[in-house]
Amino acid sequence: MKVDTYKKTSKDFRFPPNLDDYDHAYRVFDWKTAHKELDWFDGKLNAAYNAVDRHLHTWRKNKVALYWEGEAGEQKKFTFEELALASNKIGNILKDFGVERGDRVFIFLPRIPELYFSFLGILKIGATAGTLFSAFQEQALADRLENSGAQVVITNSELKLRIDKIKSKLPELKHIITVDTQDFQKSFEKASEDLHVAHMDPEDYAFMLYTSGTTGKPKGVVHAHRAVIGQYATAKWVLDLRDDDTYWCTADPGWVTGIAYEILGSWTAGVTAVVHAGRFDPKRWYEILEKYKVTVWYTAPTAIRMLMAAGDELVKKHDLTSLRHMCSVGEPLNPEAIKWAIKVFDKPFHDTWWQTETGAISIANYPCMDIKIGSMGKPFPGVVAAIVDEQGKEVETNAEGNIALRPGWPLMMKTIWKRPQKYKSYFEHGWYISGDRGWKDADGYFWFIGRADDVIKTAGERVGPFEVESALVEHPAVVEAGVIGKPDTLRGEIIKAFVVLDAGTKPSEQLKTELMDYVKKHLAGHAYPREIEFIDKLPKTRSGKIMRRILKAKEMGLPVGDTSTLEEY
Ligand code: WTA
Repeated sequence: MKVDTYKKTSKDFRFPPNLDDYDHAYRVFDWKTAHKELDWFDGKLNAAYNAVDRHLHTWRKNKVALYWEGEAGEQKKFTFEELALASNKIGNILKDFGVERGDRVFIFLPRIPELYFSFLGILKIGATAGTLFSAFQEQALADRLENSGAQVVITNSELKLRIDKIKSKLPELKHIITVDTQDFQKSFEKASEDLHVAHMDPEDYAFMLYTSGTTGKPKGVVHAHRAVIGQYATAKWVLDLRDDDTYWCTADPGWVTGIAYEILGSWTAGVTAVVHAGRFDPKRWYEILEKYKVTVWYTAPTAIRMLMAAGDELVKKHDLTSLRHMCSVGEPLNPEAIKWAIKVFDKPFHDTWWQTETGAISIANYPCMDIKIGSMGKPFPGVVAAIVDEQGKEVETNAEGNIALRPGWPLMMKTIWKRPQKYKSYFEHGWYISGDRGWKDADGYFWFIGRADDVIKTAGERVGPFEVESALVEHPAVVEAGVIGKPDTLRGEIIKAFVVLDAGTKPSEQLKTELMDYVKKHLAGHAYPREIEFIDKLPKTRSGKIMRRILKAKEMGLPVGDTSTLEEY
């Protein structure tokens, strides 16, 4: 395989990067040093306090923390002090509702300022925050709220209607706070700006996110307050955030990237952030980069490919010279996308690899390091990564295996909510097994191959086939469904469903559309199959498990492999 290398030269450094010698840092790194850069209360800490309140004792107090822009172009801005006070108010409102340490408070909101105030306020009182994409529909919401036993949901009046429909399934849900009502506005105005920030043990829960695996319902990955240590360290060394930066992370806090690098890590680094609450639109995106003079940009491969598809002319219409550092996460970043970025932005995207479970960037390309185009880079200092075989033995250089991390890095997930066995199952032979396959080259760069399981990554979203299959079989015409990720040049993968219909139902194009809409309406706006194929029978194991591997091989015209355990094929 021919590898192109992007060699860094002095032109790549407007300033010396925060991390100027990766090899040295990796050798001498000690998490204790990273600990010291945060504010502690005598061995206790609070992630949200570190993100905002600690800056109030410095010149950053009146610095803009958040430039917010809505879908219709409305603009607002908040200083660190304003963020601190608004989140104190939310903390007090929650306390008035009886919320206590350890209670789960879920946020079901689009990216409006109240989402950020709420997230911080929840952490400040020691409760556990959960985030939910506003694209979620009844089934996705019910699964998450029921399993987490959330006591409070913070939402708006439009999204609340979806919660109302499932409320009867949620015995533990006591309060729904609707932020766009007059009642809420009144209590927000009245609420005290003084709040005692809870001093949390580093191991105490801070936030949880539901994410998908191959089987079963989504699982609640729980992170402790200590996660902020790694989120901050990576924000500083990988995103290279500096005090004079304007930083734009395009992720939604429904996704771990939005929590780690739009709230906790980036604000702990004291950076001014831009949040755009609108939909993806190439023209708008370039306008935002230009208008706010964004210097550091963290986005995802699907968005980059869509920008690429929108053409170079559009880029040229904007002055994007403020950009100095660009990173990507969530799915494989194609070499073409990096080369395109070098052509149009005069700088590459730096790929970063991590997972909801790892809590922060774990493998990355650093500003100070040459980029082997197509590689995910090298492990973050303090993180030991390896390619291992099924026995946990490191494989040879360039050989394929499981991407694994040595447990014990401080940002690693704390647990899987109510599923301790599931949590344990991640660890084998002394390694955390990521579920991703890859290889490591002679220079220590890691390369991604694919998932070891059936998890789908569509436009960066992690979707479990089981969830989509379950949603489809709820439809009266569907007897069974098997769901796979089908490679797609724009979205990385799209969801494809193989559907067995009820004997009395005739297949039709109209029915396909109906099924797509059904999943959109019941599960989530983004997790629906863009392709449906009706088939007579699904390949299954003798124990009745759908063999998605076979569906995928057939779809891609590949050999189906060993079928000896199949029931019938
Ligand atoms: C995939 C995302 C290739 C991978 C923060 C991983 C990537 C899953 C990359 C986690 C990358 C993430 N190159 N694949 N740079 N980054 N992935 O939990 O399969 O939504 O296991 O967290 O995304 O997805 P999650």
